[in-house]
Amino acid sequence: MLYFDHNATCPVSAAARAAWVGAVERYIGNPSSPHRLGARADAAIEEARKRLGAWLGCDAAGIVWTSGTTEANNAVLHHAVLVGAEEVWISAIEHPCVLAAARRYFPKAHRLIPVSREGVVEIAWLAEELKHRRPGLVAVMAANNETGVLQPWREALALCREHAVPFFLRRRAVGGKAARERVGWLRFYDRLRS
Ligand SMILES: Cc1ncc(COP(=O)(O)O)c(C=O)c1O
Repeated sequence: MLYFDHNATCPVSAAARAAWVGAVERYIGNPSSPHRLGARADAAIEEARKRLGAWLGCDAAGIVWTSGTTEANNAVLHHAVLVGAEEVWISAIEHPCVLAAARRYFPKAHRLIPVSREGVVEIAWLAEELKHRRPGLVAVMAANNETGVLQPWREALALCREHAVPFFLRRRAVGGKAARERVGWLRFYDRLRS
């Protein structure tokens, strides 16, 4: 069978596999343990944090590791609750884990940003709505995981900046495929497992 659905997920690369196997064989300690093997694992994680921060062009201290994208998305939406967001707007084509988190944390206060028939987020809608209301978070994905359609996230980000609205960019479906971009200026960035 030929597999073309690399938007949803793709086979792990040989380099990533080798790096992962090497790390789990080398660092057998729990990074929270007080003994030397734990400290060694902890140092390796901190080194990885530094390198990822440099690669992403962001402050390494702001990187939060999670076990996967669902957890990351929940963390961001939960954070929105903690900082007092009254409502969140998410694109209508978001992955079910984002929709579910929005429903859970903002049961009566999440709005779906409409998309065109071609599956593209409607920037005109966002521009118009932001003139009247200021949500606590706007989430847009860089590419859709089902259709692969690239989204106008830069325009969405520019609008959010103009209106001082925190922006959550979800790049899971493009990570490792699109060119690297410096992301240090983004408020939230989901590139987990990419
Ligand atoms: C765009 C997108 N977001 C989130 C997820 C959920 O990811 P995870 O399995 O890492 O929790 C997926 C899974 O396919 C996805 O494609």
